Amino acid sequence: MTATDSFNSINDLAQALEGVGYFAERRLITAVFLSLRLERPLLLEGEPGVGKTELAKALAKVLGRPLIRLQCYDGMEQREALYEWNHAAQLLHMRAAQHNASAHDVEREVYQERYLVRRPLLQALQTPAPGALLLIDEVDRADEPFEAFLLEYLGEYQVSIPELGTLKAQATPVTILTSNRTRELNDAVKRRCLYQWMDYPDRERELAVVRSQVPGASAHLTEQVAQFVGRLRSQPFVNAFQRAPGIAESVEWAKALVALDTLTLDSEVVQDTVGILFKQREDVAALGPLIDELLLPQAPQI
Ligand SMILES: Nc1ncnc2c1ncn2[C@@H]1O[C@H](COP(=O)(O)OP(=O)(O)O)[C@@H](O)[C@H]1O
Ligand SMILES: [Mg+2]
Repeated sequence: MTATDSFNSINDLAQALEGVGYFAERRLITAVFLSLRLERPLLLEGEPGVGKTELAKALAKVLGRPLIRLQCYDGMEQREALYEWNHAAQLLHMRAAQHNASAHDVEREVYQERYLVRRPLLQALQTPAPGALLLIDEVDRADEPFEAFLLEYLGEYQVSIPELGTLKAQATPVTILTSNRTRELNDAVKRRCLYQWMDYPDRERELAVVRSQVPGASAHLTEQVAQFVGRLRSQPFVNAFQRAPGIAESVEWAKALVALDTLTLDSEVVQDTVGILFKQREDVAALGPLIDELLLPQAPQI
């Protein structure tokens, strides 16, 4: 059974994702579809909050695969990504075996799979059919040696463990890597993946997300939120801010506005809730003078 058994077309996949509340543009769905068809890892790059992690979660749901997540960070080591030996259990075994076995035998015995602690990569390789969905999240946070270590997995869905040899995937894991692009990834990693840049959503997609996640918001309020945030992200304002709000912030904001019984956005309520859109003091300050223009019913003329 392959991952695409239930999806014969890009439309089918788009519908299934919408069914679990994920709204994506066609280019992204096409990349996902191809990654499933060709059994190639998919690298998603984009600003924080554009829906990279969420896509992996939604995809795991529609494929009926367990989601295995490896959250990367600076200084992460192989043993946290792949496996480590359960030293305590090995030690107990050695003690028990001390008197009736040769040292050589004991050493062989303790390096068996039963003393292996499986970390996400190995778990993904050893998940039986239809296989896991492995999310290697924020790979740009890990360091370059870690990227080099990933190459064997990404290229051949296998890893080499010195004591056990090469372990191949039981069923090819669907593999998604994400990067917030805090640094450029290694070319060798990129070559092994399909690549998709994820942008902030267009108005329609943002509306769909907010509607589905904040059903309590009135149609008018939802439109206002999508318009306000969309304008914030577009030129020439975007350069005024260190970090523009993502979809996550739009959703949070709409929820907060509903909690405040807001029916329509005005300058005052924006000021009161601005901490949801921006987490930087400078950005909050930069927004102040722009609020009235962003709230105009027509596109601001600047
Ligand atoms: N296309 C989308 N459809 C539905 N919800 C989305 C979408 N994109 C983002 N979201 C919402 O935004 C939140 C943040 O997205 P996330 O995947 O964490 O962003 P990223 O991983 O790119 O930083 C998610 O929890 C989800 O609620
Ligand atoms: Mg993320």
